[in-house]
Amino acid sequence: MPGQLGRPLDRYQRPLHDLRVSVTDRCNFRCTYCMPKEVFGPDYPFLAREALLTFEEIVRLVRLFASLGVRKVRITGGEPLLRRDLPDLIRMLNEVDGIEDIALTTNGVLLPRYAAALKQSGLQRINVSLDAIHDEVFHRMNGGAASVRQVLDGIRAAADAGLGVKVNMVVQRGVNDSEIVPMARHFRGTGHIVRFIEYMDVGNTNGWRWDQVVSKQEILERINREMPLEPLPSRYYGEVADRYRYVGTDEEIGVISSVTDAFCGTCTRARLSADGQLFTCLFAEKGHDLRSLLRGGAPDEEIRRWIAGIWQNRNDRYSEERGQSTKQKKKVEMSYIGG
Ligand code: GTP
Ligand code: 5AD
Ligand code: SF4
Ligand code: SF4
Repeated sequence: MPGQLGRPLDRYQRPLHDLRVSVTDRCNFRCTYCMPKEVFGPDYPFLAREALLTFEEIVRLVRLFASLGVRKVRITGGEPLLRRDLPDLIRMLNEVDGIEDIALTTNGVLLPRYAAALKQSGLQRINVSLDAIHDEVFHRMNGGAASVRQVLDGIRAAADAGLGVKVNMVVQRGVNDSEIVPMARHFRGTGHIVRFIEYMDVGNTNGWRWDQVVSKQEILERINREMPLEPLPSRYYGEVADRYRYVGTDEEIGVISSVTDAFCGTCTRARLSADGQLFTCLFAEKGHDLRSLLRGGAPDEEIRRWIAGIWQNRNDRYSEERGQSTKQKKKVEMSYIGG
């Protein structure tokens, strides 16, 4: 029921359409560009269990977001499959009116254990991160946490369970850019779309530098040299990935160019951290404390109004404003806010 608030628009007339929900700030990987070991060590202050929103709290919020126009929910982390009983959350979200698409972003290693249960809970599709197809490169990137084989086994388990699978590869020059073409080759013909992601200056800990970014154009040129590509139209308004297919086939890849060709103009995404803070941009400095409102006993209508007000005030467009260097402001970590 839209109610009198209808569908709020932000200050650039962007509607609220997607909600990315982080269910934990923990991860069983230590990717150097996301949770470097030196920072995310044994003493890192991860969120306490009581700080996390319960499944009931998440579902209540998703219902309210749906009443304000949200149609797509993505479960993220950290590593979302570390959250106990996650399939139960998927099942509960499936019952929320208005939500048309539920997806999950995962590093894949726990999929052999959970894929069937996730599918049974009504999940349709997942995005699996895999940054290399050669073990030594992959190990270097994920802090020695897992082998390529483990992730491929996860992808296989998901596909066998009937889940749609896309593969995300973050490209970092000098670290795994040699894997661009091998990854394209490996997944060509498997039905799994690989999306190559420009390395972003998210968080404060990865020491991001411009010269580590491999641009969309360069990624495409490298693949095109061996396997010619042609562009495809986007499937929906605000799609993050630009789509391409190998000429004369229906085999597809994608490129996510948030650095060299930002897509803030059509950004309809809100993010909810595992402890219930609402963020209106991946690069925000701070969130809005939705959990306090929730636990303070606010009725639905007050929460809806509050969310709508924040959205109407939103003027984020960080990736379009990014200059030649990362602004020296304190940003939140991606493992906390949810990629
Ligand atoms: P689909 O629904 O399958 O198209 O997924 P998605 O691409 O929206 O989500 P996914 O979690 O697979 O994210 C892929 C990459 O896009 C990650 O590196 C994200 O951080 C990045 N990304 C997603 N949304 C945004 C955004 O709003 N801003 C920026 N800058 N990057 C984003
Ligand atoms: N730049 C680009 N993508 C990133 N991800 C994590 N950190 C970064 C970064 N600095 C990706 C993950 C995952 C997705 C949710 O975000 O690899 O695929
Ligand atoms: Fe974990 Fe994903 Fe971050 Fe890697 S990128 S440390 S898998 S949350
Ligand atoms: Fe949206 Fe912020 Fe990403 Fe731009 S940088 S697309 S506003 S989340």
